Amino acid sequence: MKKAFVFMAAPLFAFTAAAADYTGGVAPTGAESMWRTANTDSIKNEAAKRGVNLVFSDAQQKQENQIRAIRSFIAQGVDIIGLPPIVSSGWEPVLQEAKEAGIPVILTDRRVDTSDESLFLTFLGSDFIAEGEMAANWLLRELGTDKNADVFELVGVVGAAPSIDRKKGFENIIANHPGIKIVKSQSGDFTRAKGKEVMEAFIKTQEWTNSKRRVVYGHNDDMVLGAIQAMEEAGINPGKEAILIGIDGVADAFQAIVDGKMHCTIECNPLLGPQFFDLVEEVMSGKTIPREVFSIDGTYDYFCAAALLPWRQTLY
Ligand code: AHR
Repeated sequence: MKKAFVFMAAPLFAFTAAAADYTGGVAPTGAESMWRTANTDSIKNEAAKRGVNLVFSDAQQKQENQIRAIRSFIAQGVDIIGLPPIVSSGWEPVLQEAKEAGIPVILTDRRVDTSDESLFLTFLGSDFIAEGEMAANWLLRELGTDKNADVFELVGVVGAAPSIDRKKGFENIIANHPGIKIVKSQSGDFTRAKGKEVMEAFIKTQEWTNSKRRVVYGHNDDMVLGAIQAMEEAGINPGKEAILIGIDGVADAFQAIVDGKMHCTIECNPLLGPQFFDLVEEVMSGKTIPREVFSIDGTYDYFCAAALLPWRQTLY
C-alpha cells in the first residue's frame, strides 16, 4: 500500500523519494527563530534520509494557513499528518476532519488545547512547564541568599503553548519567593526584532530605572538576543546591568554567554526529525505508540558555555 505523510508549511510542494511507502504532510509554523529553522530542517532532512514522500507547507506564522494545509493534506489523501500548532486553541474542527478521514495526526513541538484526546495520536516535544521551572530554579541559584529581583519578561507568541507554559513554570517556582516579581511582561512574538522592540520600551520604564536587580527572562533565546541589541544601543551593558535568561539553547545564545552578554539558556531540543519519523514508522506498521514523548533538555550557563560552544555550533 502506498502511504502518504504531510508536514504543513504555504506554498505547497512535494519531495518524492524512493524508500518509504507512505506519504506524510507537515505544516511548520514558519520562520520565527533559530530554533524553528533547526526544527524544520531536522524534519525535512530526516524525511529525505528515509526517502519519505513528504508534502510540506510553510504556514508563515498564521494558524489559518496551517488549517488550510491540513485540509489540503486530507484532500490529497496523505497517510499521516505532523502538526506543530502555532497557537493552542481552535484546532478541534480540522482535527475532527482528519480523524473522520482516518488520517492520524502527530503533534510535534506544541500541544493543542482540547478535551478530546482522540483528535491526535501523540505529542512529541519538550515539557515547556519544566523549562520555565528550570529557568526560575537557575535564577534562584544565581541570586544566592538575596532573593529579590525585578523580572522583565519577554513572552512568546500570545496563545502559543510554549508562551503559556514557560510563564506558568517560571511563576510556579518564584511563587515561593515574594521578593522576585515580574514587573513587566510583554509579547515579543519569539522573534529577535520584536524582542528588541519590547526591550527598547522596557528600558524606558520607571520599573527599569528604579530596579536594584534586574532580570530579563525571555521565552526564547532570539528575543533575549534582540533585547541585548536594544540594551547595547541604549548604552546599557547587558551582562552587568541585568541577569539575562533565555530558552532554546541556540548557538547564538551560547556565543552571547561566552561574550558575557547573557547568563543562561535552557535547552529546548529542536532536532525532532529522527524521533518523529521513528514514531511515524511505528504507526505505519500498526504499532501502538505512547501518548507523549518528551525530549530531554538541559541548563547551560557561563560555567559551561565556552567549552560547549563548538559542539553546539554543529547542532543549531
Ligand atoms: O515551540 C518552541 C518555540 O518556538 C521555541 O522556543 C521558539 O524559539 C519557537 O520559535
